[in-house]
Amino acid sequence: MKILVTGGAGYIGSVLVNKLITSGHQVKVIDDLSNGFKENIDENADFIQGSILDNDKLNQALDGVEVVFHLAAKIRVEEGEREPELYKKVNINGTLNLINKCTEKNIKKLVFASTAAVYGDPEDYPVNEKSKVNPVNVYGATKLEIDQYLEKNAKSLGISSICFRFFNIGGALQTKKGNWLKIKHEGATHLIPSILHSSNEKPLLIFGNDWATKDGTPTRDFVHVVDLADALIKSLTKLEVPGNQVINLGTSTGSTVLEVVKTAEDSLKKNISYRFADRRAGDSFALVTSNEKAKQVLGWVPNKSLSEILQDAQAELLANH
Ligand SMILES: NC(=O)c1ccc[n+]([C@@H]2O[C@H](COP(=O)([O-])OP(=O)(O)OC[C@H]3O[C@@H](n4cnc5c(N)ncnc54)[C@H](O)[C@@H]3O)[C@@H](O)[C@H]2O)c1
Repeated sequence: MKILVTGGAGYIGSVLVNKLITSGHQVKVIDDLSNGFKENIDENADFIQGSILDNDKLNQALDGVEVVFHLAAKIRVEEGEREPELYKKVNINGTLNLINKCTEKNIKKLVFASTAAVYGDPEDYPVNEKSKVNPVNVYGATKLEIDQYLEKNAKSLGISSICFRFFNIGGALQTKKGNWLKIKHEGATHLIPSILHSSNEKPLLIFGNDWATKDGTPTRDFVHVVDLADALIKSLTKLEVPGNQVINLGTSTGSTVLEVVKTAEDSLKKNISYRFADRRAGDSFALVTSNEKAKQVLGWVPNKSLSEILQDAQAELLANH
């Protein structure tokens, strides 16, 4: 198929582009390289450098395309709190602009990268697609706005869309040529990069050890980026009927922060120094999702373990930084 990946130079996008091309698809990428790497883009992809807010570039990118995977976004929770207007501009206006252009050009298939952050601090464990949405930060709110827009309008626009709510994504991809696709580490506040960058001098900070979990530290659901790309590719055959679907992508298995630290120590064969700090505003005690719907709709099950996620993340760090 002829596919456009927005944000295809980024962490998840570059893995998806690589896997789509390996599966025989024709791929275009639009990315402004604000947080991606040109060298991440497969040489067989047609690359348009530019923003989804630039209509000329977007027209060029959408020409001849049948399906759009929309991954381009501003993704940092803390930055979103500091610069809400920028997040609204790119994540909401940029996406609505893209949807408008798709309808103008009669492109009817859209996959949107949404996030677990739409659930905020959820009441359910594990959450599912019917759980209450209640984002507690600007980033999550901008993604929810698009989920809700598609839920309301996809059918009348004649678009078949899936909003995938990704949980915590980790790991990396080594290409067939042997290089590891690059991950941006600067400014990353996610747990796995923070573990990899910790040292005795700069221990990992664990925010809160008094949560209602088995060891007091928060629980998260980690999916390998290669498993995630596999789910996205499986969705290509599920975009036939106009209307929107929401699908959570996670493993249904929660790991506490201390369990992730222990797995990192075992699988990376090193000591991880850490210390406890106060809880952060807006954090939740547990973000874990059922993946029954993903299994049922896509026939998808994640295959890779937390240990593989950590080992691949470390291999990328050693190879590229
Ligand atoms: N990484 C995760 O754990 C995670 C979890 C949930 C959801 N997501 C979603 O998945 C998607 C991909 O995330 P990622 O981790 O690969 O992030 P990323 O920042 O590595 O990738 C996003 C890409 O979009 C590009 N971009 C940003 N603004 C743009 C614009 N205006 N026009 C064109 N390109 C632009 C960036 O340069 C970058 O290459 C995002 O939509 C994100 O919200 C990621």
